[in-house]
Amino acid sequence: MLDLPVPATTTLLKPSAPAAGRRGGLRAWAKSFLPDREEQGSLVPVHVAIIMDGNGRWARQRGMPRTLGHRKGADALSNLIEHAARVGIAHLTVYAFSTENWQRPREEVDELMNLLSEYLDSEAERLHREGVKLTIIGQRGRLPQLTQNKLAALEKKTASNTAIHVQVALSYGGRQEIVDAARSLAARVKKGELSPDGITEETLTASLYAPNVPDPDLLIRTGGDFRISNFLLWQASYGELYFTDTLWPDFNGTELDKAIRAFQSRQRRFGRVEEAA
Ligand code: FPP
Repeated sequence: MLDLPVPATTTLLKPSAPAAGRRGGLRAWAKSFLPDREEQGSLVPVHVAIIMDGNGRWARQRGMPRTLGHRKGADALSNLIEHAARVGIAHLTVYAFSTENWQRPREEVDELMNLLSEYLDSEAERLHREGVKLTIIGQRGRLPQLTQNKLAALEKKTASNTAIHVQVALSYGGRQEIVDAARSLAARVKKGELSPDGITEETLTASLYAPNVPDPDLLIRTGGDFRISNFLLWQASYGELYFTDTLWPDFNGTELDKAIRAFQSRQRRFGRVEEAA
């Protein structure tokens, strides 16, 4: 039966959670609120990726401007990071801005960029204090220069943190990531460093934006749509998909626990038969 490892680097934010002897301690602790699949060997997913959709509709339902929905979405993200660390998720990747989102109305793009910049100002210290390691994937060169500087500073500052790794996809597109990887492999072939036969799943994976982050085990989309929307196309090939109608600003720890329960009820075979998997 599936046995998801809890990485040795995972520590937990809340003092009530076991900080040492993590595997046994975490199992016992998680069992108090997660479904009873422990006997069968499954625990929390190591890497959870989330498409945070529904901010605009959340605002519209309340007669508010879309931008307010994004602000509520940012609050939801902060709360969720804390909860994800507490339950022992090692990597959390969130889709904050896609390559396609640049095509939204100028005012909304500007507002999202402002929100990101303000978020970094107001949350950076807290994220660091809570042991969050933050990294970015995507075409960061398209972001405003000041935001790029703030992001680089926060990545550097939090590089050794171990409570949880939060990867924010910004100006990110899965197809673009694969194109960028193909270009870097082609350049190596041209230089004679690699033969065409040396282009394999392994070398392509090693050329992605974050080659050392394991593939997502669980991919969540909020907001009621059933799409991947160009998110982690290569990495999500065997990720378990979970869709919920809940709009992103309402997605909280209880909702994440529900998604983890659904994940724990799945049988992952990775294309093989049950015994082999
Ligand atoms: C999709 O909702 C959401 C986005 C395009 C932006 C996601 C951003 C946040 C959650 C804000 C927090 C992020 C940071 C980094 C500060 P939508 O606008 O497509 O909603 P709709 O489908 O209801 O219109």
